[in-house]
Amino acid sequence: MHEIFEPIEIRKIEIPNRAIFPPLSTNFARDDGHLTSLFLRHYERRAKGGVGLLIAENSCISYPEGKHGAYEPRIDSWEFYDDWKKFVNCLKKYDSRTSVELTHEGWKKKGVDFLSEEKIWKIIESYGRAGEIACKAGFDMVEIQGAHGLLVNQFLSQLTNHRSDSWGPGIKFAVEIRKEIARRCGWNFPVTIRLAVDDFREGGITLEEGKRIANALQDDYDMIQADIGLGPKELRLEPMPFPQGWRAYLAEKVRPLKIPVAAVGMIREPDIAAEILRSKADMIALGRTLIADPDWLIKVREGRIGEIRKCIGCSECIKARHDEDTQIRCGINPQVGREIEIKRAAERKRIAIVGGGPAGLEAARIAAMRGHEVHLFYDEFGGTLNLAKLPPEKEKIQWLIDYYSQELEKYDIEMHKKKALKGDVLDLEPHAVILATGSKPLLPCPPLRNFVYLFDEVLRGEVRFENKRIVVGGGGLVGCETANLLAEDNEVAIVEMLPEVAMGMETLSRKYLLKELEGKGVKILTNTRIVDLGRGELIVEQDGEQHLIEADALVAAFGSKPYVPFRIEGIPNYIIGDAKGVRNIYSAVNEGFEIAIKL
Ligand SMILES: Cc1cc2nc3c(=O)[nH]c(=O)nc-3n(C[C@H](O)[C@H](O)[C@H](O)COP(=O)(O)O)c2cc1C
Ligand code: SF4
Repeated sequence: MHEIFEPIEIRKIEIPNRAIFPPLSTNFARDDGHLTSLFLRHYERRAKGGVGLLIAENSCISYPEGKHGAYEPRIDSWEFYDDWKKFVNCLKKYDSRTSVELTHEGWKKKGVDFLSEEKIWKIIESYGRAGEIACKAGFDMVEIQGAHGLLVNQFLSQLTNHRSDSWGPGIKFAVEIRKEIARRCGWNFPVTIRLAVDDFREGGITLEEGKRIANALQDDYDMIQADIGLGPKELRLEPMPFPQGWRAYLAEKVRPLKIPVAAVGMIREPDIAAEILRSKADMIALGRTLIADPDWLIKVREGRIGEIRKCIGCSECIKARHDEDTQIRCGINPQVGREIEIKRAAERKRIAIVGGGPAGLEAARIAAMRGHEVHLFYDEFGGTLNLAKLPPEKEKIQWLIDYYSQELEKYDIEMHKKKALKGDVLDLEPHAVILATGSKPLLPCPPLRNFVYLFDEVLRGEVRFENKRIVVGGGGLVGCETANLLAEDNEVAIVEMLPEVAMGMETLSRKYLLKELEGKGVKILTNTRIVDLGRGELIVEQDGEQHLIEADALVAAFGSKPYVPFRIEGIPNYIIGDAKGVRNIYSAVNEGFEIAIKL
């Protein structure tokens, strides 16, 4: 792993290691573009974790036309200088170099053809002003957002630029921005670029062109992050199934250059990171990797690899930022959006925790960290995570189970591997009990033997089907994922009462899953209700009409209901996770954390 910790220079600025925290919008700024204390704490936490180069998120260089997101920080006027100065000062005590991503959203649909020459120079001036604000505020460098279909990318790509003047598709706009920043800050102030080296869209920048663009920009820019352009969003905010480091080849292809080239995307494990550094890139961007675990680098350096809380790709952060436009949150790191200090409890209490799923495990971790006497009852370590990891391409969920199993070993937790009875808890005479007892599948139809099966039996492989016609009842996330597994060997249909399947899922992950189902020929019947069933057939109703479906099995995925087997009188009972309301990993982990910091 020593590759990760080798220093590198970006135009004479020494970066202490090869890791970059790339720009990642948090929505922690205010809607007027000013920074908040949470914004500062979020970045401070990543700097404390020892990342070599920390790049603050998309920041608006021209307001309001170039604004990209409701809570995008602004760096378009001197009004914001004090905010950024405070930001840089707050990071000074750490060994991270600092940068900020200068962004103009541009006009993805319209393209840049309509811009007058005068307007183009005005925008370039805005980049220059933003660079100057950053430089004076004390940043070590700035980064130009030249990817993701935003303005600089729009100038580079033939898809959005059909101009026949000197501003036609090519590097001129990017080069003039660089010169304007140099004019104001001097050439020694480094400017890097997040570059679309492949648009991943027909008619756009191809990797061959991307290589030429990178080559041409190396005289002006000081580091390139090899990224994706105008193409599908799910390629640059990749969902869980994407393999680690899958797009590091983009960096490899544009090398060698006389400036460093960084790889980005799904780099989660240190040996993958080291391998990329050995053969494909000079630096690595660790985005969600450091959201999920800001201490990733410290743990790698100290050889505590098993303690890393690896981003599982659950896309909760993307859902918050892109679907809801709210502050980001992390499915597995409940400190995101808080960054509070976990203090020892004033009084050591005996806490019984019933349930070894994500809610119970997180509660145990935090309660033990705070010095409580923790008793954890579980029949299966990991609880529902053991089911959630079973559908195709969900194996990264095992990482979370592994993390808790390693993490809980650090504390003196009394582990009771058994299904807790009320008497077991009473015998302990605890001060409080946390019931994280999960949920049970719902079965709102007759349990016809040899015809009706529960989704969990199928996921666990307790029942197996091959070359059968299967109806999955219920098209929620669980139903769709169960269908995805079954469709590997069977003809599958999903019957869902609502107008859509997989509702509530993050948009890009949902798109990916639906494409998988389509690819495997899964038939999706929405607005459809099962009205009757008998062995071998189902009657369904759609738009007031009834149809018969012949099937070899019905797999019930109609959802689950909270399961709370008992309560303990006379002491506080806290019900968390699915036992409180069936939701997802984020809610479970978050509630485990929340209750344990209050005890
Ligand atoms: C919630 C979220 C917000 C992001 N915001 C930005 C951004 O402001 N600017 C940017 O260039 N990329 C942004 N990205 C992309 C990341 O910088 C990074 O390229 C991407 O997440 C892939 O790397 P990772 O797998 O290490 O997270 C964002 C990604 C996520 C998940
Ligand atoms: S929310 Fe999910 S995808 Fe985002 S950083 Fe956390 S674990 Fe990774």
